Amino acid sequence: MSTSTQDVEVGGLSEPILLTPPPLSSFEAPFRGVVPVLKSLLSLIFWLITELLLLPVNIILLPFSMCCGPRYKGVTPAELRRASVINNVSQIKPAVDSLKHAFRSGATRSHAWREQQILAILALVKENEDAILSAYSSDIGKPKCDWFLEKQAILGDANHMVVHLRELMQIEKRSIPLWMLPGSTYIVKEPLGTALVIGPYNYPMNLCLCPIIAAVAAGCNVVLKPSEQMPASEQLLAELLPKYMDPAAVLVVTGGVPETTALLEEKWDKIFFTGSERVASIIERKVAGSLTPLTLELGGKSPVVVDKSANFTVAARRILQGKFINAGATCIAPDYVLVEEGEAEQKLVAALKQVTLKMFGEDPQKSEFYCRVLNKMHMDRLEGYLADAKKKGAKVAAGGQTDAADRYFAPTILTDCDASMDCMQEEIFGPILPIVTVSSAEAAIDFVLSKPKPLGAYLFSSSWKVQRAFQSKVSSGGMCINDATVHVLGTDIPFGGVGPAGMGSYHGREGFNCFSHCKSVYSHDTMTDGLTWFRYLPFTGFTETVMGLVMGKSW
Ligand SMILES: *[C@@H]1O[C@H](CO)[C@@H](O)[C@H](O)[C@H]1NC(C)=O
Ligand SMILES: *[C@@H]1O[C@H](CO)[C@@H](O)[C@H](O)[C@H]1NC(C)=O
Repeated sequence: MSTSTQDVEVGGLSEPILLTPPPLSSFEAPFRGVVPVLKSLLSLIFWLITELLLLPVNIILLPFSMCCGPRYKGVTPAELRRASVINNVSQIKPAVDSLKHAFRSGATRSHAWREQQILAILALVKENEDAILSAYSSDIGKPKCDWFLEKQAILGDANHMVVHLRELMQIEKRSIPLWMLPGSTYIVKEPLGTALVIGPYNYPMNLCLCPIIAAVAAGCNVVLKPSEQMPASEQLLAELLPKYMDPAAVLVVTGGVPETTALLEEKWDKIFFTGSERVASIIERKVAGSLTPLTLELGGKSPVVVDKSANFTVAARRILQGKFINAGATCIAPDYVLVEEGEAEQKLVAALKQVTLKMFGEDPQKSEFYCRVLNKMHMDRLEGYLADAKKKGAKVAAGGQTDAADRYFAPTILTDCDASMDCMQEEIFGPILPIVTVSSAEAAIDFVLSKPKPLGAYLFSSSWKVQRAFQSKVSSGGMCINDATVHVLGTDIPFGGVGPAGMGSYHGREGFNCFSHCKSVYSHDTMTDGLTWFRYLPFTGFTETVMGLVMGKSW
């Protein structure tokens, strides 16, 4: 077997490509080349025929599907509600035990129950917008527009899940080796059990409710610990969730470190954490040895690469929308920009300044679209980045103003930044956008590759060669080409990190799978036992030959 590699030019970037795959014996893989092609052709034809046949039916059903969707049935009685909010460490264990008991009873398994819980979340969001807005506004001064975008993410996820729930719950047939016939192999999706969901401060509704949607869709029930850094939002979740959802579905625990510590001492079937790398590693250490499956949704410095072929106006709008929403406190927000030096940089900076002005006006502090910073600690941290960057030679192209009393930090764009500055070392998680110049798109990709894997990576370029190179070389949780952050709104693509940006993913079917175990089942027939006489002891030379011919092959 010999393989050789050769550098192939991709957009001026050399990329080693495996030229000759290792040869396969034609007997071990009969028709290896032809079968996949035939299969794809057949499935395409099959798809076309079914679509055509179903077209008239779909047209007739369309008005019905719009008005006769499933409905949410009422709220939970008051006497059941009281048990579902815990704010006392001593009550945690019995409450968690009762939730585990509810799971074992099978109450969470039926399609109807799961659908009801998701519909309840939809109703919760739609019926309590004013309460949510006022909680957000008192916690962090979050403007209405930020909630509006967050709401769309929740509704999109919930609606997608309701529509596809039956399909996701179905068993999944897999192909079977010939000698295992007559029989079938398939996958049964079973709920993991009782899950602990720990939410972050930046988007309490989205990042607490979407994991719950995924968990109940999979048939799990949940103990939710919202972030105590947003007290009004935490209280609101504690008040609303038990009002809308089944007490067997969700239990809210409020409080701080002692409560979280007590929760982590329980045995969980799944822990789903969204937040910082620092807290994630504390949780990992705390549950080490308990073999608890973890999904960690973290962050990181998500880079934006803009090359000279980009449309700078469009790039500026898409970068800044993602950067300055929620005053930069978004895990997938563009963290810094790498742009080719010279004309490209000038054009981009001009466009960024113009777009900032258009979005937030002359004085963003007065804008109704601009959020505040969480607390003094974060204000100090951001002011520290700004002072350090200025000292090391960065120039303020826009913003730079702060008002500590109002927790206001202006949308700030810094040029002439370099890798030595603090704002290029740590995740910014605030409204500062440093711009670093590079000599070429290739150098930008090398820069990104020299850093830890980010949660998001964004490229603005109209050269498909650069696009292909970026896509194949840069490893990140998610990626946008000619956009930024919006991939999170795709309802049928997974959302999650890689490396230090997290592990595991959710949304849509990945959310369902995140809280499910894929159980392999082989169901066999007994009447035809004679056909597989060769698998039983005692073996002779002949049975070994037969086994060699039929088992251990790719059929
Ligand atoms: C917590 O619950 C225990 C027992 O029910 C009670 O004695 C204690 O006073 C409670 N603590 C608080 C802070 O409510
Ligand atoms: C950039 O895109 C906008 C909107 O699609 C378009 O109007 C404009 O002409 C484009 N600019 C360039 C330089 O292609």
